[in-house]
Amino acid sequence: MYILGIESSCDETAVAVIEREEQDRVMAEKIKSQVPLHARYGGVVPEIASRNHYEVIDYLTVEVLKEAGITIDDIQAIALTLGPGLMGSLLVGLSFAKGLAFANKLPLVAVDHVMAHIESAFIDHPGIQYPLVALVVSGGHTTLFYQKSKFQTEVLAKTRDDAAGEIMDKVAKFYGLGYPGGPILDELYKQGDPHRYAFTFPKMSDGSDDFSFSGYKTAAIRHPAGKNANPDYKDFKDLLASFLNSLVDYLLAKTRSAVENTGPQSLIVAGGVSRNSLLREKFIRAFTGSSTKLYLASPRYCTDNAAMTAWLGYEKYRSYPGINYFDRYLNSYSRASFSYRGSKSGR
Ligand code: KG4
Ligand code: ZN
Repeated sequence: MYILGIESSCDETAVAVIEREEQDRVMAEKIKSQVPLHARYGGVVPEIASRNHYEVIDYLTVEVLKEAGITIDDIQAIALTLGPGLMGSLLVGLSFAKGLAFANKLPLVAVDHVMAHIESAFIDHPGIQYPLVALVVSGGHTTLFYQKSKFQTEVLAKTRDDAAGEIMDKVAKFYGLGYPGGPILDELYKQGDPHRYAFTFPKMSDGSDDFSFSGYKTAAIRHPAGKNANPDYKDFKDLLASFLNSLVDYLLAKTRSAVENTGPQSLIVAGGVSRNSLLREKFIRAFTGSSTKLYLASPRYCTDNAAMTAWLGYEKYRSYPGINYFDRYLNSYSRASFSYRGSKSGR
């Protein structure tokens, strides 16, 4: 079965063709990053993002089909990121996918972007066992999930303010280091002393397990070592390294306690920040020999991509055969979305 995946939730337009069943593989994918367009603003400008999605989405689709060596007539379903994300950007993907599905009489499967990040780990690790805990850590999300099965999802902890990637981006922007901040800090980390400055782990006053990152951001931008924000200056390099080191330790400590509390078979770490080399190293070290097996999303599927959208789209298409996707894709979205702990109504 061939599935076309379309992703346009933020600042990457991505299209992929995957094959499932006879073989499970990504046949072709294209990602048009808008980073150069947003870099001068130090963050994503929604209006620019949607216009650029609109400009490239059809072209990318033609290119991906060509690279896969098939035509739209060979495609059996279209999977699309319906949310969460920037509304204008999402609407470009939705309108395009809906038109394509309509014209070719294809089922349209709407996919949750955050769930697709969890699914990204399955592309290269098909043997992942449930139940599992998943940490999705990106520019828009920092959430710990518990999944009994693929479509039974509970939120264990989520950020109350910024996401982990977002504060890396904001701190890098504040110090004029460039955009996006995550990969820049990943590089600069290697030059500093990660134990020079201490950052305290945030604690929720109501005792909840949720994350909070805004205190980290304030501490990093008000730190005396940031006075001379020159990447050649030792104190500044030590500040950036200590900041990243503590942030990764915080993510690890929260994940470890979620794993201890729930005892899952597997642990997935996915999303843009999971590409971070320090994070990967520390998680691998922490879970080597553990009864919970760690699966890190492959680096190329950590940041936004359409292969993960198509991968989850296929699973959803197979799991909800009764749904007429062509007419009711919005209903299928809410049926398969996840519920928050203690909430019956879901999200
Ligand atoms: O998953 P993603 O592409 O988009 C969202 O769904 O948010 O994640 C983007 C985020 C950005 O904040 C970026 O700074 C961060 O992922 N990121 C990294 C690295 N590569 C991307 N953070 C730390 N280290 C990296 N190597
Ligand atoms: Zn994402």
